[in-house]
Amino acid sequence: MTEIPEHLLKRSRERKAAGGDASSSEVSASTPATTAAAPVAKVVAETPIKAAVSKPVPAYVKAAKTRGRIPSWAMATLALMPIFLFMYVRGLQPQKAEASGPIALGIENYGACASCHGADGAGGAGRVLKDGESLKTFPHIEDMLNWVYGGTEAYEAAGVASYGDPDREGGAHYPRSYNGSAMPAQGAMAGGALTEYEILGLICHIRYDISGADEAGEWAEEYEKWCSAESEIFLGLEDGSLTFDSPELGVGTAPRLGTTANAAIMTEG
Ligand code: HEC
Repeated sequence: MTEIPEHLLKRSRERKAAGGDASSSEVSASTPATTAAAPVAKVVAETPIKAAVSKPVPAYVKAAKTRGRIPSWAMATLALMPIFLFMYVRGLQPQKAEASGPIALGIENYGACASCHGADGAGGAGRVLKDGESLKTFPHIEDMLNWVYGGTEAYEAAGVASYGDPDREGGAHYPRSYNGSAMPAQGAMAGGALTEYEILGLICHIRYDISGADEAGEWAEEYEKWCSAESEIFLGLEDGSLTFDSPELGVGTAPRLGTTANAAIMTEG
């Protein structure tokens, strides 16, 4: 008989009490080694390993293993954070060139005209502006600027018979020929509330967005000169180095007859 050390017997009893692997524990505890050499060797060999495996993981190790680990999929997102931050800050800054271009300004101010001409230029108390109507009346943008600056009463007071193209398809437009009412003056010196560069912005918006002028085709030259974001005329009106009365512009603030599509605008300089 092999003597089984007391501490092993004790451990076996404990394990049995705890509901462990009862049969194998019993074998190691009570079966003589001569009759069951193999199982005993197996059990003895397994016992320390089993003990090591079932040994409870201390709470602080568990905590360290599970604490605040960043999952690998989130790392990719985190790595992009500086870029997102950069884009966000950039987005907060106003896009200068865009916001100060004539058409952007015109879109911003169009409410001053929409009450009479409609949000889409379909007309109402004021004439129709969309579907090329404004382009037919004013084949030259200079004549449209002059008309909007002064409005109906200035033309009447100056005794100018018609505004825009005198050969307009369907007949020239003359003051109060629409529904008898007047188009209010818009330019500051004529009693209106708009600056000259604001009037240019509105007229660019009406011609290119509402009336449908093609900035890349037939109207490309006018667009570049008057309505593009780089328009030197717009910038000059804005900084005061040019006015509608600057002779090289051919606009003028005094009411005058318009020009036909084929006629050249009179300019000096
Ligand atoms: C109170 C109403 C009213 C407001 C506001 C108004 N208009 Fe007019 N608009 C008219 C009337 C009425 C006519 C026709 C004038 C006439 O027959 O004498 C007209 C005519 C015009 C025409 C000529 C159209 C054509 O083909 O004959 C243009 C261009 C125009 N308006 C632009 C503008 C712009 C730009 C604004 C805003 C800055 C504006 N209007 C604000 C009432 C208005």
